[in-house]
Amino acid sequence: MQKKLIYITSILLFYGCSNESTDDLTDPVPEKVSYSRDVKPITDTNCIPCHNNPPLNGAPMSLLTKLQVQDAIINRGLLDRISRPQGASGMMPNGGTRLPQSSIDIIKKWQTDNFSE
Ligand code: HEC
Repeated sequence: MQKKLIYITSILLFYGCSNESTDDLTDPVPEKVSYSRDVKPITDTNCIPCHNNPPLNGAPMSLLTKLQVQDAIINRGLLDRISRPQGASGMMPNGGTRLPQSSIDIIKKWQTDNFSE
């Protein structure tokens, strides 16, 4: 009985672990997110059409530099804006298509990773 339990438990553990490592392989969010490598390409493509310097189309601030994006996450609700559902009021990119979930996750993790260069 005891042996059987251990057997079943190890199968479950093994299955759980192998599942997790498969997730890691396909996970597009890097181990440690870097601004220049991971975040800037996303904001340059999706935000700079309006959040340029100077900002265009009524955007209130620039998102061209690391400090500007960092400030918008801390003080301007950037993560909330990009996480809103497609078409929701205030969703960013304004009037556009919601970012792929992987891009949203990368920017979220950048904050967790202490806004590294
Ligand atoms: C088509 C133009 C356009 C694009 C593209 C765009 N924005 Fe905006 N953004 C605006 C405008 C206009 C406002 C002001 C209206 C509002 O707050 O909803 C704004 C406001 C914001 C705000 C709130 C600022 C504040 O102080 O309240 C954030 C945060 C933001 N944008 C982030 C982003 C991010 C991140 C992207 C790229 C993923 C992006 N925006 C793409 C036009 C744009």
